[in-house]
Amino acid sequence: MELKAENISFSYNKKRQILKDVSLSVNSNQIIGLIGDSGSGKSTLCKIMAGYISHYSGNVTLDGKEIPDRDYYPVQLIFQHPEKTMNPKWKMEKVLNEAWTPTQELKDTFGLKDSWLTRWPSELSGGELQRFSIIRALNPKTKFIIADEISTMLDAVTQVQIWEALINHAKANHIGILAVSHDPELLEVICDDILYFNEINNL
Ligand SMILES: Nc1ncnc2c1ncn2[C@@H]1O[C@H](COP(=O)(O)OP(=O)(O)OP(=O)(O)O)[C@@H](O)[C@H]1O
Ligand SMILES: [Mg+2]
Repeated sequence: MELKAENISFSYNKKRQILKDVSLSVNSNQIIGLIGDSGSGKSTLCKIMAGYISHYSGNVTLDGKEIPDRDYYPVQLIFQHPEKTMNPKWKMEKVLNEAWTPTQELKDTFGLKDSWLTRWPSELSGGELQRFSIIRALNPKTKFIIADEISTMLDAVTQVQIWEALINHAKANHIGILAVSHDPELLEVICDDILYFNEINNL
């Protein structure tokens, strides 16, 4: 499969255009890195590609077809701050099973401990919470993952553990990944190709 963004242009308001004619594509067997200045519009592009923003111009397609948003959205966005995407009044077990019921194997792959399931989100570390948000996004219907600085707040060892697990799962299940990061060394290690945001944004 191919996830394609073509000629995406977007502004939040009349004062400033954020994206101009941005195009990129990711295949199912690929991990593509995206690097660029803070505030330049990377997360905005991620949100457009994952269906969070609709009033843009251009096209986002899967194998040439527009992505219907009435069903499960096959492009899943994982954010930098997992706690912001979780209901603080839900125990982790409910948070985890909100969209689908992950297999024990997947939980083991990400080192998710059973004892975490009975806690509140505020009682887990950033790295522990991020494992939950990644597993949540790996619904079997997911075809592409957009990882927007998902390991920025983690130490080096945890970062490697999480990326290894995610990449192994993605390769085995033909999931393509767009990985946004400010860390060129990380992208060099994990990506098949790296895109420079200022080169693809034609402002
Ligand atoms: N909802 C919004 N309304 C208005 N402006 C916004 C909104 N969200 C983001 N912006 C602005 O759009 C610009 C691009 O933001 P975006 O989050 O896409 O950048 P980024 O490249 O992801 O930056 P970083 O590397 O710091 O994460 C910024 O100037 C930001 O202030
Ligand atoms: Mg961002």
